[in-house]
Parts: sequence; structure tokens; C-alpha cells
Amino acid sequence: MTNVVGKLSLDGSKELLTRGRLVDATLSEEDYVIERDRLVDGAYPVYGERARGARVWDVDGNEYLDFILAYGTIILGHVDPVVTKAAQREIEEGFSISLRKQIHVELAERLVQTIPGAERVFILKTGSDATSAAVRLARAYTGRDRVVRWGYNGWHDWAAQRPGGIPEMVRSQVATFQYNDLDSLRQVFRSHPGEIACLLLMPFELDCPAPGFLQGAIDLAHEHGALVVFDEMRSGFRVALGGAQELFGVQADLATFSKAMANGWAVSALTGRADVMAMVGRTHISSTFYSNTVSMAAAVATIDQLADGTALARVKVMGARLQDGLAALVRKHGVPAEVRGVPQMPFLAFTHPDADRSRLLQDTFFAETTRRGVLLHPTHHWFVCAATTDADIEYVLAVGDEAMRLAAGVA
Ligand SMILES: Cc1ncc(COP(=O)(O)O)c(C=O)c1O
Repeated sequence: MTNVVGKLSLDGSKELLTRGRLVDATLSEEDYVIERDRLVDGAYPVYGERARGARVWDVDGNEYLDFILAYGTIILGHVDPVVTKAAQREIEEGFSISLRKQIHVELAERLVQTIPGAERVFILKTGSDATSAAVRLARAYTGRDRVVRWGYNGWHDWAAQRPGGIPEMVRSQVATFQYNDLDSLRQVFRSHPGEIACLLLMPFELDCPAPGFLQGAIDLAHEHGALVVFDEMRSGFRVALGGAQELFGVQADLATFSKAMANGWAVSALTGRADVMAMVGRTHISSTFYSNTVSMAAAVATIDQLADGTALARVKVMGARLQDGLAALVRKHGVPAEVRGVPQMPFLAFTHPDADRSRLLQDTFFAETTRRGVLLHPTHHWFVCAATTDADIEYVLAVGDEAMRLAAGVA
């Protein structure tokens, strides 16, 4: 690693941030538009220059092992050569050519073969496209307006996390519930009998589903005449080729995918029951760029490389080593912290009962790991990619040991 502890310069990032703030509406100083990008103020690089495998380099030339992985878009490793070649081939051939291309059919076929319950697919561009399309189809199919959702599901009106600019009429149609608590979900269905079009949820985030929870949620929704949509944006093509549906042996009516599906290229998919997907013809969901095929070629190249299970098995093993090692460090240093999540999407949560001290522990730990060349997100679970090696995990744990010692010293 090229970082020299204590001498990490972020001057290039700071200079670009100053320039960016004069012109880029998403970089307002008082209120970062994307809260998750705040990280630890001043301690993280903001602008990167290049990436390869499990590593990224910032504009100041610092090298990092990357466990943010563009919020889960990378599964094979940055700039995977096979995916890059497939995309390049598509670019050279012509990727916006007025006609549909064969690769579109090939990607749809891969998804039907891979995703449980995928009788038909609709290929879109972003995760929010796919979840919003799912809600639209569920409303069209059931003739109902209300939605129950859980987790982060995108930025469109029905799912946005901040209320600004969203009509109260829209917000009032969307309810949520307590994860792993079927009673709280039952309560929502009972409060709106015959009115809920769908239950849309991430299958899990930091907590694994309790035994029977996912199937119980599916059954409950069906008892009330609602459809079930799994938002597999993070879990799809990461926890198993067929996502959480495959891992947990359950089946939703519809499911949405993006992120790891094309190893960083912008594409998403809605998959599911043919009779529900047929509603596409009764509503309006379209974009000029849905038929752009570069990211479809990248998706096919990614899925084909994941197909034999080797890369995903590696991701799981590396993630489990990271989790076990961090849990041992927590015990060694006696810090109030807890290793959470599935191995493929691990996290270290600081759990001091005093929120200020917990924040200090968190900021110190993550600033120190960053300074030593390991990019771990302080407030969002991490991701592991198949390019991560045993030596990388050893390095992270050595850095984690030192960072935890320093954190224990301040709080
Ligand atoms: C689970 C989940 N659903 C939906 C989305 C929205 O995807 P996008 O940001 O591509 O619109 C995200 C994005 O992070 C996500 O993690």
C-alpha cells in the first residue's frame, strides 16, 4: 500500500470539492444531498482517479482496499477485464441503433434461468426504475393504491426518505413496518383491508431474517390479496446467483435487481410472474436509454462469470474471515461494538450506550482505517468482492487492530 500513516494527503480531493461546491448542487456544505456520502468529515477521500480489482486510488495518489465498492455495484472486482471487453465490443458494434439487439434477449434468458420465479423480465436502467416499475405493475394488477415497504427502495415519490417535494397524498399511501416482526406487518394489513397492492421489501439488511419471517411475510401479503416484491438490489448476484430468494428458499411474485448484476454498469431488471408482468402493456414505463445495450453486454459477461459459483463462494469466504477477525478484535480491545450482517455485506456497528461516545469511537476507528488505506463505510454496511485476497483480509485486520486500539484510547 502506498499510504504512509499520518501523512495521508487529501489536498487534491479538497481542491476539487471547493471547485465542485461552486457548481454542483449535490455538494452543498450544510446539507450533503446524499447523507451516506458524508462519511467522517475530512478523513475520507472524495475524488478518486482509478480502480482495479479490490483497490481504488484517489486523486492524491493514495491507494485503498475498497469495501464500499460503489455501494455494491462491484462483485468481480473493479474493471473486470472480461466485462470491460464485452462492453467495449458492444460500444464498437453500436449500442444505440434504433433496433433491439440480440444481447437484450440473451440477458433476459439469463435472468429467467437464474432468478427464482422469473417467468418474464423487464430490463431498465436504475434500481429506482425497477422498484417503481414493480409498484406500478402491482397497482395495475390489483387495482389497489396502497404500498407497504421496508428498507431503502430508491428515490421516487413513494419511497423517498425525505419528505421535501413529495405530495402528502402520495406519502399517505405508503406504510412501513418493523423488520422481523410479523405482528407489525399484520397490523398494517389489518388497518387497510383490501387496499394494499404490494409488500415490497429488501429481504434483509443488517439483521438476517428470523426463521420463517420471509415466508410468513409472503403468506400474510397473499392472504390479504397483495403481491410481494423482493428488492434484491444489494442481495442479487451477491449472496447467491439467484439472490435472497435462492439463499432462503422463498419466492416472491416480483423481484428487482441491479448493482452487482453488471459489475458496475448501469442496468436494472424487474423479474417475476408472467401475469403480473403483462401489466407492462396497460401502463406506461419507458425510457430512451432502456434499450442501450452496453450495460446489457456487461451484465451477460458478469452473470456468465458468476454462473459456476466460484466467485460468489470466494466473496462469502473472504467476508466471513473479515467478520470473524473483527469479532476477535472487538473481544481483544473490549470496545462496545458488534459485527453484523451476512458475510457478503458485513458491518461493524459501535454500540456504546452514550451516543456521543459511540460516535467518537466510530469516527476514530473509521478515520484511522481510512488513513491506513482501507475504505470501510462508517454508517452503511460494506460489500466484499471476489478480487479480495487472503492477504487483503490480513491487512484489513492488522489495520483494524491498530484503529481499534486508538479508538479504545479516546472513548
Ligand atoms: C435495496 C435498494 N433498493 C433500491 C435502490 C435504488 O437504486 P438506484 O440508486 O439505482 O436508483 C438501492 C440503491 O442503493 C438499494 O440499495
